[in-house]
Amino acid sequence: MVRSLEMRGWMQLISAKPFAKVVAAVKSIFGFFIKVFIYRIPEVQPGMKLWGGRFSKNTDSAVDDFNSSIGFDCRLYRQDIEGSIAHVRMLGKCGIIPVDEAELIERTLKEILADIENGKVQFEVDAEDIHMNIEKILIERIGEPGKKLHTGRSRNDQVALDIRLYLRDEIENIRKMLIDLERMLLRLSEDNLDTIMPGYTHLQRAQPITAAHHFMAYFHMFLRDLDRLADCKKRMNKMPLGSGALAGTTYPLDRKSVADELGFDDITANSLDAVSDRDFVIELASCLSIIMMHLSRFSEELILWSSHEFGFVEMDDAYSTGSSIMPQKKNPDVAELVRGKTGRVYGSLVTLLTVMKALPLAYNKDMQEDKEAIFDAVDTVKMCLPVFAKMIGTMKINRDKMYEAASGGFTNATDLADYLVKKGVPFRSAHEITGKMVAYCINNKKSLEQMTIEEFMAFSDRVGPDVYEEISLQKCVDGRRLPGGPARETVRKTIEEGYKIIDSMSR
Ligand code: ARG
Repeated sequence: MVRSLEMRGWMQLISAKPFAKVVAAVKSIFGFFIKVFIYRIPEVQPGMKLWGGRFSKNTDSAVDDFNSSIGFDCRLYRQDIEGSIAHVRMLGKCGIIPVDEAELIERTLKEILADIENGKVQFEVDAEDIHMNIEKILIERIGEPGKKLHTGRSRNDQVALDIRLYLRDEIENIRKMLIDLERMLLRLSEDNLDTIMPGYTHLQRAQPITAAHHFMAYFHMFLRDLDRLADCKKRMNKMPLGSGALAGTTYPLDRKSVADELGFDDITANSLDAVSDRDFVIELASCLSIIMMHLSRFSEELILWSSHEFGFVEMDDAYSTGSSIMPQKKNPDVAELVRGKTGRVYGSLVTLLTVMKALPLAYNKDMQEDKEAIFDAVDTVKMCLPVFAKMIGTMKINRDKMYEAASGGFTNATDLADYLVKKGVPFRSAHEITGKMVAYCINNKKSLEQMTIEEFMAFSDRVGPDVYEEISLQKCVDGRRLPGGPARETVRKTIEEGYKIIDSMSR
């Protein structure tokens, strides 16, 4: 899997260099002499796993590499520490471990957090994952009390917690980006209330609309995305600690207080489900896939629109690229790449569904595969949204070209038929008469509004001089004033409502 830049940055925190191994070996020899001749240091012995008690030998290094998730779950360090602090405070409060030791653990965890953020911590592949890396560092720093952190907890409920905390924040980050995109769409729509363009079905010119109406269609798609993300977060926001490995724990943990402290709406209701549920990850991947699908549709249109054949928009030079061979080229790469990246987000969704398919209860190691997939989907969407918003905010709209396209292609033919209906012709007959007029215009290379009144009358004696006004593009648009339609007044109202909705979300 190709890792994002951020993830590659993370990878540098992990020691895999031979030099580090030599340093570790020297440290361990030195430590051995101190232990034997001075006193026993209660730290984790090198190469020894935190779960190593029942094992006769060290893990094969190939298995360490294979099994380890620290290369990608290291990005959960903040959530892991936040969860551990809430857990240990509760352990202290409930009298499960001494309060002074709980406080020492909390203080040290905060120091570890600061050290990680200042780049002073190197995670280790043979400590497997972020959970054991941090616990190991804690024990190395404070010895025996550090060994009490994991009381009443398993990595299974711990990872279920961490990933919820992490994705919960990322949902909010993505929602903010969607809100920025929505504002951009509202502004573009406001600016283009009078920009007439052809609306399409089957990619054939159909009826005149405005560019504002077109942009607002995307506004409403992204509004549903915002709603879907909020809904996804609601189901995600349940606190799993206390579920243990699978069957809860005998310690009298106060699950509710941990949930409150970490800002969860509730606690999970079944320990087996809590440790093996990744529905929320799949749901998020599905929300992200739908966002990308929307972006890909918009991208596709903008790619078409920036071609010479359409010429409806021109991407700003800062959002286009040239060709290494064809000097005249200006390519809409950003839109194309967004369209292309849709594939990898769909890929993550299918990965997640397949990882979870047929998994027996409860936790299985397969589930470690959830992280790279959802991280990549989150990273990709976060990369696409801001650049897409800026791209559409800087593109030039070619109003004349749009108007010209709406004037050709007989987009006002339906309005001409409706005009005949108003004059008493049944719709089916009006449709047929108008069809004949269109065929006549095609043969005579003219548009409907270029026909003379005599020409009209040859098809129907109901046509009067008011026909020209009735089939003008502006009238065709403004006549469609039902709620949801393209009339300027109607769209102006939906833009105003849009601002209200987006403002209330930003509060
Ligand atoms: N790194 C593991 C994961 O991401 C954490 C849980 C490991 N649990 C276990 N029983 N091995 O799923």
